[in-house]
Amino acid sequence: MTDPGTSTVTTHPARRVLITGAAGFIGSHLAQALVATGAIVIGVDRRDPRTDPIAARNLAELRPHPTFIPITADLRTCAVEPLLLDAEVVYHLAGIPGVRPSWGHEFVDYVSDNLLATQRLMDAAARLGVPRLVVASSSSVYGATDGRPSRESDHPRPMSPYAVTKLAQEQLCLAHASRPDCPTSVVALRYFTVYGPHQRADMFIHRVLTAALAGTPVRLYGDGHQRRDFTYVDDVVAATIAAGHAPAETGVVNVGAGTGHTLHDVITTAEHLTGHRVRTEQVASSDGDVPTTLADTTKAAEILNWQPRTDLTIGMTKQFRRITTKAAQLGPS
Ligand code: NAD
Ligand code: UGA
Repeated sequence: MTDPGTSTVTTHPARRVLITGAAGFIGSHLAQALVATGAIVIGVDRRDPRTDPIAARNLAELRPHPTFIPITADLRTCAVEPLLLDAEVVYHLAGIPGVRPSWGHEFVDYVSDNLLATQRLMDAAARLGVPRLVVASSSSVYGATDGRPSRESDHPRPMSPYAVTKLAQEQLCLAHASRPDCPTSVVALRYFTVYGPHQRADMFIHRVLTAALAGTPVRLYGDGHQRRDFTYVDDVVAATIAAGHAPAETGVVNVGAGTGHTLHDVITTAEHLTGHRVRTEQVASSDGDVPTTLADTTKAAEILNWQPRTDLTIGMTKQFRRITTKAAQLGPS
């Protein structure tokens, strides 16, 4: 893989699109890429940038943009149809992410945000004749593998409540689309551990980089030899935009870098980047945390004409630079 600066979007953008989860990590990057191509972007999220600091940060560069229309609303309860008027593509990224917390008391939220809200959205999209819905699914639907790259045709074996809701979510959308009279075709993208600037604070790469800078230890769930197919956010955005125009029968597509790295690889890279040692604190591995994720990207290459372009060192460098730029702007505390 090479570093082209940013991933290129080769498909022609839709004129008016809806992004759900637009104030989130991936959704805000997607919104930025789409407004840059001239699209009118309706960005819905229940996090209000006027009161929520993460949403404010993620949307800071977007809010002044004339073709970005932010809407604060909860998809479980809001009127969905007005959001969808004249939308050519819905990019459905809203949901509760995160494998580990889904074992706890929050499961009801996973079900309502990842499934019930999706049902409302998909139902309304079909009623209004929206041509395409792209839904953000997850590599976690594959469960524990034998280490070989996962293909879309592999039997899914989700190993956490979160992963079960993501599998159900993608299949729910595809079930709607399979009805003979449904005007909305669905592409479900199985994202593999996404990283980059503004990555969620619960995720490993963010934690390692910030721990290195702060001189605090990072928790390792297990021995750190688990492998993830860490995928840079600009690459994920390029695949997501391409999915808006892929053939109607596309179905499920993996979006992963196609390369595995252990958590120790991430730590070593963070040490090179920051010039600081990363101290670790090993704790028990977490239920549902699979040993390996790795994408077979053949289908993405063929159908979406997409290739991952950013390797881990380059991607982590960009994420690190954003963290340090922000810290420099804030000044000494
Ligand atoms: P994120 O938490 O940063 O963004 C999700 C956004 O959805 C949040 O801003 C949240 O407020 C919003 N949201 C949740 N429920 C909502 C509701 N009912 N109504 C309105 N807004 C709602 O997460 P992310 O990392 O950007 O992930 C985006 C999507 O991609 C999720 O669906 C996640 O499951 C999926 N995914 C993420 C990764 C990853 O590595 N980050 C990997 C695989 C799949
Ligand atoms: C990520 C996202 O958080 C999920 O929303 C998404 O669905 C999933 O990718 C996916 O690929 O589908 P995960 O792979 O667990 O999930 O990503 P991280 O939270 O960055 O964790 C990566 C690894 O680091 C895991 O093995 C985790 O146990 C470990 N980890 C994480 C730690 O050891 N310490 C931490 O503080 C955080």
